[in-house]
Amino acid sequence: MSVSYETHTHDVLVIGAGGAGLRAAIEVSAQGLSVALVCKSLLGKAHTVMAEGGAAAALGNVDPQDGWQPHFKDTMRGGKFLNNWRSAELHAKQAPDRIRELELWGAVFDRTKDGKISQRAFGGHTYKRLAHVGDRTGLEMIRTLQDKGIHSGIDVFMECTVSHILKDDEGRATGAFGYWRESGRFVTFNAKAVILATGGTGKAWKVTSNSWEYTGDGQSLAYEAGAELQDMEFIQFHPTGMVWPPGVRGILVTEGVRGEGGILRNSEGERFMFKYLPESTRHMFADTEAEAKQWVDEVLAGKPATVRRPPELSTRDNVALAIYAEVKAGRGTPHGGAFLDISYQDSERIKRKLPSMYHQFKELADVDITKTPMEVGPTMHYTMGGIRVNPETQMTAVPGLFACGEVAAGLHGANRLGGNSLSDLLVFGRLAGLGAVEFAKQYEGNPTPNEGQVKAAVDALMAPFERTGEGPYEIHRDLQDIMQNKVGIVRTEDDLKSAVAELDALQKRVDNVSVEGSIQFNPGWHLAQDLKNMVTVSKAVAKCALERRESRGGHTRLDFPDYSEQLSKVNALIRKGADGQMEYSQAPLPEMPEELKKLFEEDKK
Ligand code: FUM
Repeated sequence: MSVSYETHTHDVLVIGAGGAGLRAAIEVSAQGLSVALVCKSLLGKAHTVMAEGGAAAALGNVDPQDGWQPHFKDTMRGGKFLNNWRSAELHAKQAPDRIRELELWGAVFDRTKDGKISQRAFGGHTYKRLAHVGDRTGLEMIRTLQDKGIHSGIDVFMECTVSHILKDDEGRATGAFGYWRESGRFVTFNAKAVILATGGTGKAWKVTSNSWEYTGDGQSLAYEAGAELQDMEFIQFHPTGMVWPPGVRGILVTEGVRGEGGILRNSEGERFMFKYLPESTRHMFADTEAEAKQWVDEVLAGKPATVRRPPELSTRDNVALAIYAEVKAGRGTPHGGAFLDISYQDSERIKRKLPSMYHQFKELADVDITKTPMEVGPTMHYTMGGIRVNPETQMTAVPGLFACGEVAAGLHGANRLGGNSLSDLLVFGRLAGLGAVEFAKQYEGNPTPNEGQVKAAVDALMAPFERTGEGPYEIHRDLQDIMQNKVGIVRTEDDLKSAVAELDALQKRVDNVSVEGSIQFNPGWHLAQDLKNMVTVSKAVAKCALERRESRGGHTRLDFPDYSEQLSKVNALIRKGADGQMEYSQAPLPEMPEELKKLFEEDKK
């Protein structure tokens, strides 16, 4: 039986239309090639908006001592040196230009008193480095990129799920197959190069800041196409999500609150973060409430810092663990979190600097944050691992297949610094665009869909209608339980072994999932496709977490609390073996050049 589908042909196909996908597509178009931008949701509805507090770039507008070197060092330190050094170097050097460019394209950043782009403090950043628009930075970035993209001649295809990457006889990625979410009708996109920019995997966990779109699609598409996944064990639990009421648990409370001086306390009123500073970084933080207060006074006066920053600005991995420990010790808030208080500041300033937080708490929790502390707790926010790419071109191990933004690995290592995601997607979105353009220009001929691959894709998509049995919703709930309870913020050998076994069993249920109805307007069918991706990614995370018998960054093993010498030298890799099974291996970290190593040695003098 021949399959009917519509076809669109462009030089480059970008899958995912958050900040990274938009920035990549803008670059392709600027280089004179045609580009299709496909997204599962509506254009502009992306997790990019959940990076609220700012984009990290060493502009040096507020703290003039800043530069690419401190930013590079902070990123490597934050990532516990598992980052790809070249990605961190490119990011630190190029981020300022990307922010200035965004401003030229119309982004309206908050200003300093002398009219420069204002920058705020965030965890793990030595200097005030986050260019921001109140607490709506991601939103302003998306708005600007959308505007620029639309006027650059990009062809946008919304509400379209991509289910398979198509390849030519030489193994190059030459397009994708998918379906329109509304009608269920099939579609192929032909291209000489394909960029994945689909974001993260949060929906595999129960408590997450991610919305429904984030089901590990790009990681799973790349894995199935033959690319490698790297360092999947490193999941970022943002320390501050809402914890109450239950319907909004997990929604992000921006780190910008702490950047503006927000204080964390437990149920006994103790400012507990002073106790949780790691020995190696303790010297960078205020050690008294008075010193922390002076730092805030300087922020409020718009002055460069002359004292050390408050302990709440430790890195996310550390703050999330501290909140977890306080709750475990019985010092949590009534709904199982910590108190985050900014209400001691002028209420008009709070509303100006943190307008979304003010409205979010007022409307969703009936809490006025200018008068009352917020209740907050860790929420799954970001996938630090992802598709392994070449840092210069962002190409994966599959020729012609590129990845950028959260779906890709390399920049963040074991823990991402807040604000580095927004500059990541600008820097590496552009580089992926350039990489794809170079590749597409060298591609001879016109890619056309391989009918065998298309037929296999259709069979896989339609299979759930042929079965009778379990539907997708219960499987999803069980998946979230496994990941939340056994592959969460703290992990043990027993839990991880049991998670791996349970995920193998769950895989069988996913392989047999059944849906009713037709391909039209069918959310159950959509979830059945998403489940396939989520279970692939979850297995990769659990396997890597089991093998990393140490604690580092976002990965805490109660049974291995220290760093391992051997594991400090390797990235974890996952690939699909010839027998179809998931294979785990380790690759040595690329050697950092001497001139970059010296930057760290200078600090010791
Ligand atoms: O807290 C935040 O505003 C999030 C920022 C980020 O994830 O980079």
